[in-house]
Amino acid sequence: MTPRNCLVTGASRGIGSVIAGRLSAAGHRVALTARGADQLAEVAAKLSGPSLCLPADVTDPAAVDNVFSTVEDAWGPVEVLVLNAGAAVAKPMAKLTDDEWYGQLELNLTAPFRAMRRAIPAMTRSNWGRIVVIASIAGKIGEPNLSAYTASKHGVIGLMRAAAAELAKTGVTVNAVCPGYVDTPMTDGWVGKIAARTGKDRAEIRTALEHKQPIRRLITADEVADVVDLCVASAAITGQAITVDGGAVQS
Ligand SMILES: NC(=O)c1ccc[n+]([C@@H]2O[C@H](COP(=O)([O-])OP(=O)(O)OC[C@H]3O[C@@H](n4cnc5c(N)ncnc54)[C@H](OP(=O)(O)O)[C@@H]3O)[C@@H](O)[C@H]2O)c1
Repeated sequence: MTPRNCLVTGASRGIGSVIAGRLSAAGHRVALTARGADQLAEVAAKLSGPSLCLPADVTDPAAVDNVFSTVEDAWGPVEVLVLNAGAAVAKPMAKLTDDEWYGQLELNLTAPFRAMRRAIPAMTRSNWGRIVVIASIAGKIGEPNLSAYTASKHGVIGLMRAAAAELAKTGVTVNAVCPGYVDTPMTDGWVGKIAARTGKDRAEIRTALEHKQPIRRLITADEVADVVDLCVASAAITGQAITVDGGAVQS
């Protein structure tokens, strides 16, 4: 296995922190970014190999450019880019503000576009690169009360497909992983918000989210990371939106 320079966005908790840990355990150099510097440092401190802890807001183009430049100065170009940072605004479409709409597109679609655009020239120059976007089943099916999130995740899958088609001859693969409900702080946050809106018991809400997966449980972050590992290992898998949802969306 060749050690690679990896950059994981949204690496301070949940799925991103597990992906960072797995890449590090596999022997890669891992740069981590997210806004919260303390949480990011805690994750980086647990990694077994070389790491760079680079706090940044992925919606700030200058900050993201600085993250890439810092990795390049320390190790060389980013070779494995995992675009995981994301969040969801949950409310009925009729109540969604313009700011919320644009905020979701900025975070879940435009930020991945800018990071890909920044990473691609060095990847194509070296004839090797891996880009993996953590999308969602909301990138494949319509989800109620998640219109902007759903639109942004459908959009990022389109972006991934276009990039994969464009880069197919260059040694760079581009894929997306589409999880169902994963056991992370984001899902905990959803449980809290639904409880506040409906007055329902948190345990009952969590069980309902577990039952959205036919396997009757939440997906684990490690199960999402398994597919990221596959996308990093394979030169033949590209342009795919791989669903990890216990069988809910059969596509
Ligand atoms: N949890 C699920 O059920 C689920 C299902 C399908 C898809 N996903 C997708 O999987 C990805 C990770 O989700 P998760 O469940 O692990 O979420 P999470 O536990 O809330 O973690 C989100 C990560 O993204 C970072 N982040 C958020 N906004 C950011 C910004 N503007 N700039 C930089 N970093 C930012 C957070 O750190 P800071 O807040 O410190 O910036 C954190 O590290 C997201 O793209 C999400 O849409 C999640």
